[in-house]
Amino acid sequence: MSDFNGNFRVFSSPDIVRYYSRLSGLQPAEIYAFEKYVRRGVSILDIGVGGGRTTPHLAAKAIRYVGIDYVRAMVDNCTAAFPEHSFYCADAVNLCMFEDAIFDVVVFSYNGIDVISPREKRLKCLSEVFRVLAPGGLFIVSSHNSRVLFDIVRPSDNAGIIRRTWRLIRAAVKSIPVCVALLRSGAFYAGAGYYLHPSHGGIMGYCATPKLMELDACSVGFQPLEIVDAFNLGVPQYFTPWYYYILAKPAV
Ligand SMILES: C[S@@+](CC[C@H](N)C(=O)[O-])C[C@H]1O[C@@H](n2cnc3c(N)ncnc32)[C@H](O)[C@@H]1O
Repeated sequence: MSDFNGNFRVFSSPDIVRYYSRLSGLQPAEIYAFEKYVRRGVSILDIGVGGGRTTPHLAAKAIRYVGIDYVRAMVDNCTAAFPEHSFYCADAVNLCMFEDAIFDVVVFSYNGIDVISPREKRLKCLSEVFRVLAPGGLFIVSSHNSRVLFDIVRPSDNAGIIRRTWRLIRAAVKSIPVCVALLRSGAFYAGAGYYLHPSHGGIMGYCATPKLMELDACSVGFQPLEIVDAFNLGVPQYFTPWYYYILAKPAV
C-alpha cells in the first residue's frame, strides 16, 4: 500500500467517502483538457476515481472506461452509481492487473497522485501509467503547485460586487493555512516536497513547480504537451493551487 502517512485512513473515512460521492461537474482545467485531448472511442483508465465525479464525462467518450481506487467504499459507490462500467479496488502504484499498452488515456484527477508517498512510489506510479498506456497515449494528471501563495482567483460569474468581494476575502483567508504549510515544510523554497495540506483535516501531500513535475514525468519517458492552471485562465504561478498536466507517451 502506497501510504505511510495516514492518507489512506483519511480517504477511507465514511465522511470523506460520502463527500466524494456527492461531487459532480468538472473543474475548468478538466473541461478544457478533456475537450481538447480525449477523443471519442478511446479506452480510458480513471485512477483515484473517488465518487465517480469524472466518470460520466469521460465514459461518454470512451469505448471502454475503467475506474480504480484504493478505497473499497469509493469503488462500491461507483459500481452502484455506474453499473454499466467497471471499477476495481487497486493501488495506483501497482497496476499489474492491466497489461502493457492497453489504454489510450489515463486520468488521475484532483491531485490524487499527490497523496502517494514516499516519492519513489510516486515515480513508480508514473512509470506504471506509462506502461499501461498505448504508444501515443495521454496521461492527464493534476498536481499541487508548490509556489501558490494566494488561491484567490475564481472565474467570475454574475454575482454582484458584494458577493464577489466576500468570496475573494473568504478565499484569501482560506489560502493562509496552505501558504503557511508550504513555507514551513520548505517545499515552497525547494520547489517540490511533501507538506501537510489542511484539507480533510490534514493530508500529507506532494507539490511541485511545473518544471520539477515535468522533470519527473520525463524521467519515466513522458513528453509534456501542455500545462493548464486550475482555472484555465493563464494566471501567474502564485495564484493557482494546482496544475493539470497533459503528458504523452511517445508514439513508436
Ligand atoms: C482528491 S480525491 C479525488 C477523487 C476523484 N478523482 C475526484 O476528482 O472527485 C483522490 C482519490 O484518489 C484515491 N487514491 C489516493 N491514492 C491512491 C492510490 N495510491 N491508488 C488508488 N487510489 C488512490 C483516494 O482514495 C481518492 O478517492
